[in-house]
Amino acid sequence: MKGVILAGGSGTRLHPLTRITNKHLLPLYDRPMVTYAVEALVQAGINELMLVTGGTHAGEFFRLLGNGQEYGIDRLAYGYQEQAGGIAEALGLAERFVGGDKVCVMLADNIFERSLQPIVEHFEAQERGGRIVLSHVDEEEHLRHLGVAAMDGDRVAQIVEKPLAPPSHFAVTGVYFYDAQVWEVLPTLQPSGRGELEITDVNNWYVERGEMQADVVEGFWGDAGESIEAYYAVNDFVRATWKSSASR
Ligand code: G1P
Repeated sequence: MKGVILAGGSGTRLHPLTRITNKHLLPLYDRPMVTYAVEALVQAGINELMLVTGGTHAGEFFRLLGNGQEYGIDRLAYGYQEQAGGIAEALGLAERFVGGDKVCVMLADNIFERSLQPIVEHFEAQERGGRIVLSHVDEEEHLRHLGVAAMDGDRVAQIVEKPLAPPSHFAVTGVYFYDAQVWEVLPTLQPSGRGELEITDVNNWYVERGEMQADVVEGFWGDAGESIEAYYAVNDFVRATWKSSASR
């Protein structure tokens, strides 16, 4: 399975911090945000990665990650997104890299306390389709800023992006697994109200065909790009829980 880390976008919710750098280069405690996503995938056993970014700070990712060896990556490719056209557009740049393989896509502002390894193994064993990772979020106000799964028992019936009335407490996190059908879905997408190709539309394509599985992840999950409050909540978590990379 290949990994694709998405680290583009204009990070408007963290302006003005993100006027002078890429959101995923901002610090989470003692190191840049993107390194946590890299570490999460490598730790889960995915060591062929492509990082997709854009904008004027793309070069800093090279300086930080280099050829990836220091992070345990066997093969690190880079993709450059010409404009901030959304998560699904950025993913399209990874088609050749992924080839016909399965792919795990991770948004570089997502932080998980628990290992993703068991979920990666579930998808390895899954014959076809997609897989999403859900996290139980208590506050309705928080859910309104995320993708939320409407459930039918254990099954995901639909994913609603930024719902005014969240249909459950299961937020859709920024880790997605797809088979090669994803490359057929991407060209069919239409831009959303925010002018972007939405990953939720990709996910609902699988949901509608009954080919989407889900895992619920325990422990802390945060999207550090959601708001300045979320950014600090993730920082507080990382600082209190992991202290420094050396002590992990
Ligand atoms: C994206 C997805 C959303 C998901 C979130 C997780 O939102 O569209 O469904 O819940 O990532 O981090 P965005 O950060 O682009 O607003």
